[in-house]
Amino acid sequence: MSDQVTLTRDGDIAVVTVNNPPVNALGTAVRQGLVRAMDDIDADTSVKAAIIIGEGRTFPAGADIREFGQKPQPPALWEVCTRIEETTKPVIAAIHGTALGGGLEISLGAHYRIADPKGRVGLPEVLIGVMPGAGGTIRLPRIIGIAPALEIMVSGRQVPAQEAHALGIIDRLAETDLLDDAKTFARALIAEGAGPRKTSDRTEGLGSDAENAAALQAARDGIVKKAKGLYAPARMVDSMEYSLSHSLLEASHYERDAFMSCLGTPQQQGLNHAFFAERASSKVPENGRAEPRPLNKIGVIGGGTMGAGITVAALNAGLNVTMVERDDESIAKGRQNVEKVYARDVQKGRKTEDQKAAIMARYIPSTDYADLADADLIIEAVFENMDVKKEVFGILDKVAKPGAVLASNTSYLNIDEIASATSRPQDVIGLHFFSPANIMRLLEIVIPSKASDDAIATGFALAKAMKKVPVRAGLCDGFIGNRILAKYGAAAAYMVEDGALPYAIDEALVNFGYPMGIHAMGDLAGLDIGWSNRKNKAASRSNDTRYTGTIADRICENGWFGQKTGKGWYVYEAGSRRGTPNPDIDAIITQARADLGITPRDFTEEEIIRRYLAAMINEGAKVLEEGIALKPSDIDVTFLFGYGFPRYRGGPMKYADMYGLENVLNDLREFEKEDPKFWKPAQLLVDMVEKGETFDDLNKRALA
Ligand code: NAI
Repeated sequence: MSDQVTLTRDGDIAVVTVNNPPVNALGTAVRQGLVRAMDDIDADTSVKAAIIIGEGRTFPAGADIREFGQKPQPPALWEVCTRIEETTKPVIAAIHGTALGGGLEISLGAHYRIADPKGRVGLPEVLIGVMPGAGGTIRLPRIIGIAPALEIMVSGRQVPAQEAHALGIIDRLAETDLLDDAKTFARALIAEGAGPRKTSDRTEGLGSDAENAAALQAARDGIVKKAKGLYAPARMVDSMEYSLSHSLLEASHYERDAFMSCLGTPQQQGLNHAFFAERASSKVPENGRAEPRPLNKIGVIGGGTMGAGITVAALNAGLNVTMVERDDESIAKGRQNVEKVYARDVQKGRKTEDQKAAIMARYIPSTDYADLADADLIIEAVFENMDVKKEVFGILDKVAKPGAVLASNTSYLNIDEIASATSRPQDVIGLHFFSPANIMRLLEIVIPSKASDDAIATGFALAKAMKKVPVRAGLCDGFIGNRILAKYGAAAAYMVEDGALPYAIDEALVNFGYPMGIHAMGDLAGLDIGWSNRKNKAASRSNDTRYTGTIADRICENGWFGQKTGKGWYVYEAGSRRGTPNPDIDAIITQARADLGITPRDFTEEEIIRRYLAAMINEGAKVLEEGIALKPSDIDVTFLFGYGFPRYRGGPMKYADMYGLENVLNDLREFEKEDPKFWKPAQLLVDMVEKGETFDDLNKRALA
């Protein structure tokens, strides 16, 4: 027996233990060991039942990613699952930790499943653009039905043991010790004379042929809507359908082929990249050099849109939060903003009144800065105004305890200058949340020049506690996200002036994979934000490139700020979030073009995307060149989690790699002829094309 799989005995029960730290991944030695264990169990007439269990913290959590891309070694995982199923004595999978992907498939190969109540199961292959390849699409629907099985596979979510039990994936929940309870289960099966129960022979999840066909059709329709354009989910349905009318062996081959057909597609490359980029974003030098400071009590200054959202995110992370506002009226509003979120949770059945009360007990509203004296970290979210921010930081310097991290949620302001209002700039960082801050997962951790490593590491620890995706950003106007947004936003504004309708641009972006276009997004966020930003910057604006705000300014001058005023680029019926084109915009655009002396021309969807992405990628390259982002994948993560960039495209820099950097450069050279300053290619991009490098090369180098 391989030392990664051991077989021990307790009377007539065989216990097969997988021991491949850290997560008992299903590498070659484990797969071979499992097959041999089943052979031994079959051969030994004194064995009456068997248990498969994981040593350490989990049941096999999935395939061994270290073997990805290497020549596959037999036995294949699907063969192992089938071998387990063919065992002539009842086999019980005893699950704790996470049985994901191949882990769940192994347990479905077993005849019965018992799980620790804290365990989780799932088939998350879709998250890296593939599908279950070891019987998941064959066995799971037979137990729980086509629609629920597909929901689990298409979402890739982790299903808690209780839910898995209710669905029928898990037969029993352990009540005391998992192994002891599994043995009790085994003894009961032996006593009943229950034999092996092959999952692939079960049918209780299935209906009549007509019902199955209808369920499959509904699944296909649902995928068109929900997993728009995604390849792997469609192949999952194909595989399920095939398995209903073919033998297990034929279905296994079909599923394997479908799995292989997902590999290497652009979508799979994009999704795979996104998956690893997310995990790499907290690999920053400061985390390697320093430990985070303790985090229990958080202070938040401001109870407006952002302050309230940040407060909810912190409360949800189990932290205690003191919110400070400038007067009684504002703090009452701040409190209301926080309560509203939990009231909705209660209304929707996501929380009970008691749970809400328990959370609100950790929230202290105040108008007295002295109440922040014991806070470990204080996040400022007051008006976007340097004087106001400096005044707040001056006060914080007086009241905060030594070692407290002082953070600003500013969108654009210079945090070095904010830090200069304190005597402790080493404790000051930027924590740039995205709206709504309790929902959006991106958190830019902005590094002013004097910030200490442990203050920065504390920012990353906060992100982890809040289950956010942190991205390290250097100091510049707009940091990573808003700085790049300003560029492609300008490219879109130019296109509207030059002849493209805002609705055509939005449609092109939706077809590219965005949930909504940039104009619909502007309406959602509030057009007044950009307007006030343009006004603030009017004085410092240079005249050697086109002004991008002409049309947007005129819309705002009408008091049309988007959804909140019922009108913007689109018109919104009362209460509706879906707009229709604002009929008055046409005249504004026509007038602006006339004033600017522009004769409009046509734009194809292809050109819209080419310009939008070229502007984005080029500014991304400049952000890298200046060290504002440390690696291209951090820019990808920023746009995936903060700006709706389609995940299956991997992010703008990954997209650039797949599109070809030379092609990006050619596009820039073409556009450069119209506006040399705006479209000037980043030197980094020019150099990379010359050397034949990709952004992925830079990622690898940054992580080496
Ligand atoms: P807001 O206007 O909704 O809220 C600001 C709050 O700060 C108000 O409730 C105000 O009473 C309070 N306040 C002002 N001066 C104060 C003081 N001296 N002491 C205590 N409280 C004070 O503004 P919003 O949208 O929440 O923005 C706050 C900050 O977050 C700004 O720096 C903004 O740039 C940034 N931000 C905004 C985003 C957004 O989408 N709204 C996204 C990311 C960052």
